[in-house]
Amino acid sequence: MSLWIQLAYLVATALFIFSLKWMSDPKTARRGVLAGALGMGLAIVGTLIDPSVIAGNYKWIAIAVILGTIIGVPLSRVPLTAVPQRTALSHAFGGFAAGLVGTAKFYYYVQGGHELNTFIMIALCAEVLLGYLTFTGSLMAAGKLQEVLPSRPILYKNQNLINFLLLVAAIACCGLLVYDPHRFSYLFPAVIVLALLFGVLLIIPIGGADMPTVIALLNSYAGLSAVAMGFVLNNKLLITAGALDGSSGLILSIIMCKAMNRSFTNVLFGAFGQVQQAAGEAEKRTVKSATPKDAADLMENANLVVVVPGYGMAVAQAQHRVREIYDHLTKRGVSVKFAIHPVAGRMPGHMNVLLAESDIPYEDLVEMDEINPDMPQADVCLVIGANDVVNPAALHNDKSPIYGMPIINSHKAKAILAIKRSMNPGFAGIENELYYDDKTLMIFGDAKAVTGEIAKALAGETGGH
Ligand code: TAP
Repeated sequence: MSLWIQLAYLVATALFIFSLKWMSDPKTARRGVLAGALGMGLAIVGTLIDPSVIAGNYKWIAIAVILGTIIGVPLSRVPLTAVPQRTALSHAFGGFAAGLVGTAKFYYYVQGGHELNTFIMIALCAEVLLGYLTFTGSLMAAGKLQEVLPSRPILYKNQNLINFLLLVAAIACCGLLVYDPHRFSYLFPAVIVLALLFGVLLIIPIGGADMPTVIALLNSYAGLSAVAMGFVLNNKLLITAGALDGSSGLILSIIMCKAMNRSFTNVLFGAFGQVQQAAGEAEKRTVKSATPKDAADLMENANLVVVVPGYGMAVAQAQHRVREIYDHLTKRGVSVKFAIHPVAGRMPGHMNVLLAESDIPYEDLVEMDEINPDMPQADVCLVIGANDVVNPAALHNDKSPIYGMPIINSHKAKAILAIKRSMNPGFAGIENELYYDDKTLMIFGDAKAVTGEIAKALAGETGGH
């Protein structure tokens, strides 16, 4: 039996590695998801056929499977825009599970009078600390993204000092537990409480705009906690899967920090997303608006149209209408490119997923760094529900909370068309000077409705031919 279990674990590990590899390219991403699910299925089967796991525990395992299914199925049905908070919830569950397993193991060993060697005790402390802090931290992150909690940073006095002292206290308790687990077992609940508190206090001062980066970081904590759990339970699959999870989470958060030109410390301690004080000082400026028909006329006479999709396109589910516009324009010989900002929308790859859903050819999706040099040649830049990612303030206003974030240089195009419903700000809560640019025409309305009308206007021109 043991051979089969090890074989299942080995194949599962290989599938996890392939899964990550395949998921890094849109063409193979579906295969990657399947491989990941298959690997997890194998890991579960491998664990369930282990006699030491299953013996006498059928009833509890069945209850856990039923409960997990009841919670998991509705979670899988959330709209794409809610995936970040759903992901945060998954990390919360993962961290909580690791914390609970660590707690159960500790008391099992201590009350049974078993020997707890230094290595196991260090692993147990790491598992419990990271597990519980991931649990509450991820719940806070999910709450902020779902706007159950205020998404602005909730600041408190001496926050960094308090967090630092909490961490030191937790590590000190862990040190004593490692030194003599039996004598200091009364400190174990203190480690749990400190970790839970640390998770809350670490995340609430961080603004909603930084939550995706924080979620990726918490993902990596959950992975590390699983690695520690693997050492405690002597389970090699947990060690490798946790290490993959931990490192991919870390790499993703580094990529996102780079895309926003932020450092880790700035994300964790910088309180980005604070409501800008300067908002009241803004003078009343006027914008020029246009109709969908005007937009159609402008675009059909262009050589190059660059579309910048953003969060608003995702909310409105406008991608299929955008595809119609793409078809009409390309049929007329207009070159149409989609400029993809790495943090457009609310999750990594958000725009790629939506545009792939509407079958826009992948070669017409161009990364920010590649499209920016061509922006001055664009006759029209069509901004659809994007705001922060095209805000020139990021380039020159050092008082702006998004200062330093690379943007798509829409302002360099010969003409700009911006579709949004109002003059409301985007995620960072700040005004966008692009809309007041002389070259910009605003087309107010829901992105799906407006793009639908533009597509109709373009079709009208060819109608009857
Ligand atoms: P945002 O700056 O959030 O702007 C989106 C704009 O879409 C809003 O100004 C809104 O204006 C408009 N909008 C909303 N619903 C719409 C609808 N139905 N039809 C038309 N327009 C609509 O989006 P962005 O430019 O994509 O930038 C993303 C921001 O989110 C960045 O600050 C980024 O750091 C942050 N963020 C990114 C991620 C990742 S990883 N992608 C995750 C979380 C946060 P109206 O209300 O006036 O319509």
